[in-house]
Amino acid sequence: MSVIIRLFLAATGMAVALAFTPTSFIINRATIGPNRGSSSLCMVQGRGGGDNTYKRVFVAGGSRGVGRLVVDKLLASGSDVVALVRSEETSRELSALGGVTAIRGDAMDYKTVEGAMDGCDAAITTLGGGRDPRSDGKWVDYVGNNNVIEAAGVLGVTRVVLVTSIGCGSSKDATPPSVYEVLEDVLTQKSKAENVLIKYYTNMNWTIVRPGGLVSAPETGLSILTEDTTAIGSIHRGDVADLVVRALSSKNTERKILSAVDPSIASSANPARRTTEAFVLV
Ligand SMILES: NC(=O)c1ccc[n+]([C@@H]2O[C@H](COP(=O)([O-])OP(=O)(O)OC[C@H]3O[C@@H](n4cnc5c(N)ncnc54)[C@H](OP(=O)(O)O)[C@@H]3O)[C@@H](O)[C@H]2O)c1
Repeated sequence: MSVIIRLFLAATGMAVALAFTPTSFIINRATIGPNRGSSSLCMVQGRGGGDNTYKRVFVAGGSRGVGRLVVDKLLASGSDVVALVRSEETSRELSALGGVTAIRGDAMDYKTVEGAMDGCDAAITTLGGGRDPRSDGKWVDYVGNNNVIEAAGVLGVTRVVLVTSIGCGSSKDATPPSVYEVLEDVLTQKSKAENVLIKYYTNMNWTIVRPGGLVSAPETGLSILTEDTTAIGSIHRGDVADLVVRALSSKNTERKILSAVDPSIASSANPARRTTEAFVLV
């Protein structure tokens, strides 16, 4: 495993402790209005229902982490899922779930991605993990995600949600410099994938979701999306998945770049207890 991969994987824990360790990321409740818990996200309408429900959603990265939870939430919302996975074990596990078609394959191979996505009406990618030794050290964070975007374009799958990270693109300055330095390579690769959507897929209905530091813990239900590119914080994986699936069917997330953080999680990355405005999904 390369140093970079190890650094980024280590950042899963480190992000919680450092970079994405927002201690006091507070939302301005006066600004965001009423909600289910204390986040305005509960104002989302038609969760999984209504006009924007997708029948068959392609998911890349659905074997574990955020992507696996996205699969569960899509099923709960009434969508069928086509999951591109690498291992036989994961394929069996997902195939056992009603509503999931698991296809084994490598996201670094364009034709594999296109073949798996064919017949879907939306696509979500949470692909990540750094350089792929099986693909000449190319980064799945760029090449894999780019394959998903390109296949969506070729197949006419006009709804795409790309999960990247706070620290990408316009949110670069949100990460403390010392942390950015450690994560720079992977954030650069993810930013390249973002740029493909932003600069070349101007007619596509895409949404970019940039989570803060990921934590594997039960959902709080208090996480938010925000257009504030300086936002930094931690967030539980289930909450990211929840936001991603809500954003997918939301009517106001077209060509939006949204950071995802949980204001209820204490963090040392926001010692000034700065407030931010939540993006209200409709
Ligand atoms: N860790 C953090 O604190 C943090 C912070 C912000 C954003 N993120 C990003 O958020 C996303 C979700 O992170 P996570 O930690 O929940 O998930 P993760 O463990 O990074 O999962 C990555 C997924 O990508 C899949 N994948 C990687 N290379 C592939 C390939 N060549 N072909 C097919 N599938 C491939 C993996 O499948 P396999 O099971 O086959 O490996 C896995 O399902 C990732 O993009 C991550 O980089 C992470």
